[in-house]
Amino acid sequence: MTTSKTAAPPLQGLSDYARDARKGAVAPYSNFKVGAALLTVDGEIITGCNVESATYGLTLCAERIAVFKAVSEGFRKFSAVAVVADSHVVTPPCGACRQVLWELCGDIWVHIADLKGHKKTMRLSKLLPEPFDKRFL
Ligand code: THU
Repeated sequence: MTTSKTAAPPLQGLSDYARDARKGAVAPYSNFKVGAALLTVDGEIITGCNVESATYGLTLCAERIAVFKAVSEGFRKFSAVAVVADSHVVTPPCGACRQVLWELCGDIWVHIADLKGHKKTMRLSKLLPEPFDKRFL
């Protein structure tokens, strides 16, 4: 797991990728479109958007699509994820995404932003304190 006390890197550029990825969202049920962009330690960017199912429960969030795409393409080490939605408050990743991000990316920076330019950056460990993971198995 990556853990360091250093300040967050500038993540505006990553956020722009998430904003762009959001345009691909398939969200006919909630009308809530989300984009995510995952940054690898080597500077590669893998994006995702939410894709909804008529059964609702099979819907996948933008963050999990980005991380599963990345891992399936062979990427293993990440430093940050940006998430963009159009909300009245900046939207943090849901609980399921926090868990999956923790297990596959470690304690990355999480940069959340809306379309108006409001933004917030924090470590994933702040969003998921005391996580369950392979250390307990
Ligand atoms: N959603 C995301 O894509 N990411 C989040 O962090 C929160 C929620 C999606 C799932 C669903 O398609 C819609 O937003 C409403 O919950």
